[in-house]
Amino acid sequence: MAKVIATISLKGGVGKTTVTAGLAEFMSAEFGQRVLLIDLDSQINLTTMMISEERWFELNTNGDTLAALFADAVHGTSDFDLDSAIQRGVSPVKRVATVDLLASSLDLVELQEEMSALRVAGERSDGGVMFLRKAIAPVVDFYDYVLIDCPPNIGPVTLNGLAAADAYIIPTVPDHLSTYGIPQIQNRVRKFGDEIGREIVELGVVITKFKSNSSVHGSTTKRLRRDPTIQNVLPSYINEANAIAASAEFVPYGTLKRKYGNQGQFDQFRGLTTDVMTEAQEKL
Ligand SMILES: Nc1ncnc2c1ncn2[C@@H]1O[C@H](COP(=O)(O)OP(=O)(O)OP(=O)(O)O)[C@@H](O)[C@H]1O
Ligand SMILES: [Mg+2]
Repeated sequence: MAKVIATISLKGGVGKTTVTAGLAEFMSAEFGQRVLLIDLDSQINLTTMMISEERWFELNTNGDTLAALFADAVHGTSDFDLDSAIQRGVSPVKRVATVDLLASSLDLVELQEEMSALRVAGERSDGGVMFLRKAIAPVVDFYDYVLIDCPPNIGPVTLNGLAAADAYIIPTVPDHLSTYGIPQIQNRVRKFGDEIGREIVELGVVITKFKSNSSVHGSTTKRLRRDPTIQNVLPSYINEANAIAASAEFVPYGTLKRKYGNQGQFDQFRGLTTDVMTEAQEKL
C-alpha cells in the first residue's frame, strides 16, 4: 500500500517544494522507493525542478497536466488521461530512477477560482474535494510513496490534495511569523478530516532554512520542540544553504551529493527522509 503524504503550510516560501522534491529524490536514490510526485501549485515550481520548462510547455499544450484533471472536474468533460499525464523517471539527478510526476500548470490559477465557486454553490455532494483522489486511485498502489506539494493556502486544490492524502507534513522556517500559522493548519486539517470521515495523520513539523548563526532560529526551534500544541517536530532539520537554493534549477547532476552539496546538506536530507519514512511506517 502506498503512503500518501501532503506537504502544506499557510506561509509561502518556507521550503515546502524544496523539501518535497528532496524527499522524493532521497527516497528513490537512497532507499529504493518508488515515488509519485504530485504538483498542485500553479507556480509549477516542483514541476520545473523535475522536468525542463520546454517539456512542461509540451505537456501543458497537450493537456497532460493536473489543470486538465481539474478542468474536467469543473466543466464535466473527460479529457485528462492519467497514463499520458504521468511523467516517468523524472528528476535531473542521474541516480534518481524511480520518481514519477504529475505536473502542474499555470492554468490552475483560474480553475482554482472556478472550483471555489463550485464549492460555494454546493453543487457537489462531496464538496468537490475528491477529484484528485479518484483520479489517482488506479495507480497509487504502484508506488511506495505519493508526495503531494500543495500551494500556500487551504483552497479547493489543496483540499483535493488533503483528501487524497493519508498524512501530512508542515515545513516551517523557525521564525515567529512562519510558525504562527502552524496550529491553524493543524486545526483546519483535523476539521477537514472530520468532514470527510477519515483522519489525516500529522507526521510532523519540518524545520527548514535553519540559520545556525541566528539566535531567533535557535530559540524558535527550541520553543517549537517544547510546545505541547505543536507536538511533533521531526528531529532532522534542513539548513539554509546556497547549494539547496541552487537545486531549484533544472540542470543535470550525477548524484544527490552533487545536487544538494556535501557540507552537511546531504546528511540532513537523508536524515529527514529517514524521519518521514519512520513516522509514516509507525503512524500509517
Ligand atoms: N534549505 C534551503 N536553503 C536555501 N534556500 C532554500 C532552502 N529551501 C528553500 N530555499 C529557497 O527558498 C525559496 C522558497 O523555497 P520553496 O519554493 O521550496 O518554498 P515553498 O514553501 O514551496 O514556497 P511557496 O509557498 O511559494 O510554494 C526558493 O527560492 C528555494 O530555492
Ligand atoms: Mg512551493
